Amino acid sequence: MLNQMTQPPENFSKQESKVRVWDIPVRLFHWTLASCFIVAWLTLDNRYLDIHVFAGYLMGGLILFRLLWGFIGSPYARFRNFTFSRLEVWDYLKGVLHRHPPRFLGHNPAGSWAIHLLLGIGLSIIISGLLGFGGEEQQGPLAGWLNYPQGELMLEFHEWLSWLMLVMVIIHLMGVLVESLLHQENLVAAMLTGFKPSAVDAVSSASHWKIGSAMLAIIITVSLFWFQGYLTETPEKRYQPFYGSALPDNLLWREECGACHLAFHPSLLPTRSWKAMMEGQVSHFGEDLFLEQNIVKEIEPFLVKNAAEQEATEAAWKINRSIPKAETLLRITETPYWIKKHQKISDAVWGHPKVNSKVNCAACHIDAEVGTFEDAAMHLPDDIEATAITE
Ligand code: HEC
Ligand code: HEC
Repeated sequence: MLNQMTQPPENFSKQESKVRVWDIPVRLFHWTLASCFIVAWLTLDNRYLDIHVFAGYLMGGLILFRLLWGFIGSPYARFRNFTFSRLEVWDYLKGVLHRHPPRFLGHNPAGSWAIHLLLGIGLSIIISGLLGFGGEEQQGPLAGWLNYPQGELMLEFHEWLSWLMLVMVIIHLMGVLVESLLHQENLVAAMLTGFKPSAVDAVSSASHWKIGSAMLAIIITVSLFWFQGYLTETPEKRYQPFYGSALPDNLLWREECGACHLAFHPSLLPTRSWKAMMEGQVSHFGEDLFLEQNIVKEIEPFLVKNAAEQEATEAAWKINRSIPKAETLLRITETPYWIKKHQKISDAVWGHPKVNSKVNCAACHIDAEVGTFEDAAMHLPDDIEATAITE
């Protein structure tokens, strides 16, 4: 086998020559994938969804590249050079238990299995993430493949797989640590420099720096393209990462219902709420709306036709689902989903001059006017500390 070296570790003294085991594409793949994994864990909060999704796309691209590289890449990167049977893994692990495992220049049998599993789980995470993103947010290349509840289920699976991958990563790190100690060599440094000490006759990989540079250039270009909105945004015109499909609009409704406050999109409350509100228009939260009958006749059908039951957005679906069927709430801000989503916000934020009131949705949601309330369109006013939101 190409990468097995049976000499005991003490044979590898400083006079031994070095061989390049990990080419540049493999190293770039490894460290970028690890960074994506960390970034994805750090951006679980919905407001960082665009970063989370980007980390996922990048991870997906990297894994696909690695699968290809496993067939056409340099010797130590090829799958056929690190495919081991269960027996070989078992023998290797027994060697570890006796503190005398054989040394491998490339992946050892246990490490190989970890890598195959990491690639497989990683790919499943990407696919479930894409399906969940397409279902719960109706965004991305798989938008519309699943509906909201299916998307939500898929994201639970996505989360479960991510924990599994975290466990695998920890096992992988422990393996690296154990092998580094048993063979008295720094495997982390080897993954950084690519080189490992070896007997003179071992196969050395080409650096493949051209492919590495191309990878780096693609990663940088795609990042710039994805995040360019942040580079050109202004405090007046905030960048919004995701746009849902445009919601139904109505001029008269905007005029009449947007006169005193934001025109709350019909998708934010169910039909029964809008009917009750129009019926009680003479005492609308202490105001008389004085709407003529012909105006009511246009606005009410618009409200009813586009109410939360239509599930035009994730927010609509979740708001509607959260309200007990027997209740007719007149306030969006009293629906259980709204309350749950905003309970971490401190009184200091609600009282801030730029917010002033819970119904001032546009102070924190860039897309409040259009009514989509996309996850990543949440943006607190600049001078409100992030710490104002208590965990
Ligand atoms: C004359 C001013 C005025 C007009 C016009 C008006 N509203 Fe209101 N609306 C209010 C006030 C005042 C409140 C209470 C705001 C608060 O609690 O800070 C309110 C609250 C609401 C709320 C509850 C917000 C929440 O979730 O707490 C909804 C929904 C609403 N209005 C819908 C409408 C609709 C639909 C129309 C058009 C038919 C409309 N409003 C027109 C004054 C108005
Ligand atoms: C003071 C700022 C603030 C105001 C005002 C505000 N929100 Fe939010 N809203 C937030 C924050 C912060 C979150 C994110 C919570 C999270 O990530 O779990 C959020 C989340 C949401 C969500 C869930 C989508 C998501 O991003 O996770 C909806 C829907 C929503 N808000 C609707 C509204 C509506 C409707 C109003 C007005 C009636 C409103 N919000 C007013 C700060 C605000």
